[in-house]
Amino acid sequence: MNINDKSGVERYAANSDRYNSMTYNRTGKSGILLPAMSIGLWHNFGFVDPIQNGRDILRTAFDLGITHFDLANNYGPPYGSAEENFGIIFKKDFANYRDELFIATKAGFDMWPGPYGNWGSKKYLVASLDQSLQRMGLDYVDIFYHHRPDPDTPLEETMGALADIVRQGKALYVGISNYQPKETQQAAEILKALKVPFILHQARYSMFDRWVEDGLLDTLSENGVGCIAFSPLAQGMLTDKYVNGIPEGSRASKSLSYLNSDTVSNNLSRIQSLNNLALERGQKLSQMAIAWILRQPQVASVLVGASSSNQLKENVKALDNLEFSSEELKVIEDIIT
Ligand SMILES: NC(=O)c1ccc[n+]([C@@H]2O[C@H](COP(=O)([O-])OP(=O)(O)OC[C@H]3O[C@@H](n4cnc5c(N)ncnc54)[C@H](OP(=O)(O)O)[C@@H]3O)[C@@H](O)[C@H]2O)c1
Repeated sequence: MNINDKSGVERYAANSDRYNSMTYNRTGKSGILLPAMSIGLWHNFGFVDPIQNGRDILRTAFDLGITHFDLANNYGPPYGSAEENFGIIFKKDFANYRDELFIATKAGFDMWPGPYGNWGSKKYLVASLDQSLQRMGLDYVDIFYHHRPDPDTPLEETMGALADIVRQGKALYVGISNYQPKETQQAAEILKALKVPFILHQARYSMFDRWVEDGLLDTLSENGVGCIAFSPLAQGMLTDKYVNGIPEGSRASKSLSYLNSDTVSNNLSRIQSLNNLALERGQKLSQMAIAWILRQPQVASVLVGASSSNQLKENVKALDNLEFSSEELKVIEDIIT
């Protein structure tokens, strides 16, 4: 582009082939099919980030058949800014495709000052969703999650708030995130009694964090609830990005991030061994890490992040090879345990 570029602003028209290559999986025992890969807006969509890059990522995602966009009240920074930026992009590019999109938001972490801007009270959840809808310029979200369990609020109140939100038409489905198996079971029973469609548990799951295998996936199967796995690339560690050190601009190099360079260094030898195995399989490490998660039947979708549209294009190719031999699974097991 040069300073006299006269090409103008192009309107977005989605790729007409967008549904031809993506795989869609049913989530739990529900009517909803999710793309095997979904895109999250936790990082790279705040006011600190260039909006044109975020717009490019979301256009690329939808063009690839990724119909599920995941947000939360506190994504940014600053809090709320990812939803606000999403609202701008949605209005320009996606408003005509609203019925083809499955949009999520959440509340549960600290959001505004005082006693009503955090955790799991009805007061907080209802107000937070109203704020989120306003920021995104939406009438409803497809799914609203309670973002983390609240040890002090009765679960009946929190789940009751989710039920009321569905009855008010502000969310079509509900989910929970970061709940342990026992809490998940209790939530499922309450929501079942309230006749609310509880279809997803959003849980951290990657080769470097396997807590869901210790009871959660079984609990979800028993209750007909699907799993969407977040941070499947362990925030970028399960890619080839850190194999030769920490690149400038990567998540681990930034101060406003939950991934630090020590964590990367501590995992480096495992990363290198996994990277070698991925290359032997003819895949990138990111692709192998995603395929490894999708081997679990409860996982309807892996929820990735991306700082560029090229990363997303690379990651989606994971779906071209989801098979593992028992020897490969054993090698992975030996590296990661
Ligand atoms: N429910 C919850 O409590 C919770 C918590 C966390 C996340 N989430 C959700 O899960 C989503 C994904 O989380 P995440 O961003 O941690 O996921 P992730 O997929 O594990 O990590 C994404 C990061 O990895 C790097 N990356 C991705 N693809 C790459 C590739 N092909 N090559 C090299 N580097 C690559 C990029 O970081 P660089 O910036 O270094 O390029 C990217 O931002 C979030 O956006 C959010 O929607 C939910």
